Amino acid sequence: MAQQTWVATLLGLLAGRYLLWDQARDSNYIKTTTKPETMYDFIIIGGGSAGSVLANRLSEVSQWKILLLEQGGDETAATDVPLEAQLLQFGPQTLNYRTEPLETACLGLTDRRCPFPRGKCLGGSSSINYMVYIRGNRLDYENWESQGNPGWGYADALKYFKKSENLQIPHLMNSEFHGTKGLLTVCETRSYTPLRDPVIEGAKELGYGIHDLNGKNQTGFMIMQATTRNGKRLSAGRAYLEPANSRKNLHVVIRSFVKRILIDSESKKAIGVEIEMGGKTRQVRARKEVILSAGSVGSPQILMLSGVGPEEHLRELNIPVIKDLQVGSNLQDHIGLGGLMFTVNKGNALNPNQVIPHALAYTFNSNGYFTIPGGVEVVAFLKTKYAEPQLDWPDIELHIGPLGITIDNGDFAYKSFGLSKELYKRLYKRAEGREALTISPSLIRPKTRGSIRLRNTNPTEPPIINPNYFDHPDDIKVLVEGIKIAVSLCQTKPLKALGCALYDATFPNCSSIQYQSDAYWGCMVRHFTQTIYHPVGTCKMGPAADPSAVVDARLKVHGIDKLRVVDASIMPTIISGNTNAPTIMIAEKAADMIKEDWQRKNRK
Ligand SMILES: Cc1cc2nc3c(=O)[nH]c(=O)nc-3n(C[C@H](O)[C@H](O)[C@H](O)COP(=O)(O)OP(=O)(O)OC[C@H]3O[C@@H](n4cnc5c(N)ncnc54)[C@H](O)[C@@H]3O)c2cc1C
Ligand SMILES: *[C@@H]1O[C@H](CO)[C@@H](O)[C@H](O)[C@H]1NC(C)=O
Ligand SMILES: *[C@@H]1O[C@H](CO)[C@@H](O)[C@H](O)[C@H]1NC(C)=O
Repeated sequence: MAQQTWVATLLGLLAGRYLLWDQARDSNYIKTTTKPETMYDFIIIGGGSAGSVLANRLSEVSQWKILLLEQGGDETAATDVPLEAQLLQFGPQTLNYRTEPLETACLGLTDRRCPFPRGKCLGGSSSINYMVYIRGNRLDYENWESQGNPGWGYADALKYFKKSENLQIPHLMNSEFHGTKGLLTVCETRSYTPLRDPVIEGAKELGYGIHDLNGKNQTGFMIMQATTRNGKRLSAGRAYLEPANSRKNLHVVIRSFVKRILIDSESKKAIGVEIEMGGKTRQVRARKEVILSAGSVGSPQILMLSGVGPEEHLRELNIPVIKDLQVGSNLQDHIGLGGLMFTVNKGNALNPNQVIPHALAYTFNSNGYFTIPGGVEVVAFLKTKYAEPQLDWPDIELHIGPLGITIDNGDFAYKSFGLSKELYKRLYKRAEGREALTISPSLIRPKTRGSIRLRNTNPTEPPIINPNYFDHPDDIKVLVEGIKIAVSLCQTKPLKALGCALYDATFPNCSSIQYQSDAYWGCMVRHFTQTIYHPVGTCKMGPAADPSAVVDARLKVHGIDKLRVVDASIMPTIISGNTNAPTIMIAEKAADMIKEDWQRKNRK
């Protein structure tokens, strides 16, 4: 056993290093140019989930010239491999941001700072994400609309979810909730471990329904739906930019960094952007609009650098204020307990001893365990005792996967959680080589609000990220209930039969508290806090009368002409689910609104 583990570790190391090394090579899936012209109709900042959709949809209008600017490079062979999602956090496709040191969360992590990674390449965060396809709850969108955002209710959202989707799940092909003609392929995974079905059976024992969580009802469990195609990751870049490769009116420029938006301070009109390429600064002009799609961290940062933001903050930094708006406030995120790990004995879960056969299956057939996105096989939405009992509006999400933080025997995985090597060893070393199951509970409707602010006026300096996790006392209460439900899943017969047992990884600061009590879980989650990477809300959509709103329901920046924000940052309240599909929905809808607005103008 010892020798076997040693060999496996070595192979795991080699596979990991190979993938990172391979990151150096662009995949060239997407046609790019290094020579932007000086004037376009539309300039899109950021080639991520939203920017990719917009570039495709706006360039459908052949008389419009579109420029897409992305600071990072292309995807690589490594971003293709679904299982390796976590490893990408150590490659060039990721901006390795960290939060400020927190007083209320991430207490057990290095410097009390939580990792806060963002994608930095074509496809943006969808090129490094876990590929979970979830839309959120119908009430999330009804709630957006009732906050003064006409056209954003569930029926409107559903129309664009369906427009974007290319469903390839046989038993759902006739569902009225899904679309088959879109560009974003949605699949169930090709391969699954023998742990997947016992998890589903265990959920039934607990009384949960097993059904399509992107359909009529959201509370329940399902086999993961993923944005993959032919066993590989399908980022928004691959889905939307690749099909537009032959369009001459779309110019995609990678390794072009936007320093600020040029806004005429008299007329308050966006007129272009200032970019840095190959060490040189230059300007590009927009005839019609500048569209900001730099994500929940990048978009507020660029707006503030351009003079649009909280007046007091901009004055402190001597940035001339063009428009006082609450840019960067209203930050919301989904968080949970990192590494809620269970050991199993007979599950044949993913472990390092299986690297070789599955690496071969992936290489030659795009099959095997390497096709399992980020190691997630089952997704669930649950209602704790704090959720409204009459409503199908869950407050906890579970991501369940047949592996643990020990998957690579302490090579990379623990680092992505922000754990120090010493703490990892102290808590997890003795579980290395064992089969594991992770049930990761996340709070999906947090009451806490955080913020993004500029550290200084240097555009390349990471901004100050303060998510304030657990600032609102209700958040920890809900999450503790969610953790207890996750633990109870392991105690069901189908999982007990596999020897499922909660792995004791008590943080030193929590060891004096009664094991598994509410106070214990509260302590654990404050120490081992984990984002599931869904920051939103920092350029909030709302009516002009709302002092916290940054954009209106057409996604136009209040008080600035010819400037929109289209990405995850416009969500007024975070949706109850993963944020990639909703961001793509937002961009699909925005593209139609932009077409409508300019076609109306032309008719006048
Ligand atoms: C590790 C991780 C795992 C995740 N897992 C899931 C999941 O399983 N399912 C899910 O639904 N969601 C998941 N998400 C969240 C989801 O991917 C994001 O919500 C979504 O991609 C956000 O899209 P966006 O368009 O707002 O921003 P992004 O996709 O982040 O795009 C922003 C782009 O703008 C570029 N940019 C920023 N600043 C500049 C500048 N100054 N100049 C030029 N370019 C710039 C960036 O490089 C980036 O490419 C995950 C995210 C991460 C990071
Ligand atoms: C223990 O708690 C203190 C005080 O909250 C914190 O600063 C420290 O980082 C914690 N250490 C660990 C290892 O959890
Ligand atoms: C399922 O969703 C419908 C429509 O939103 C709702 O009316 C119904 O109460 C839900 N059913 C359950 C069991 O939650």
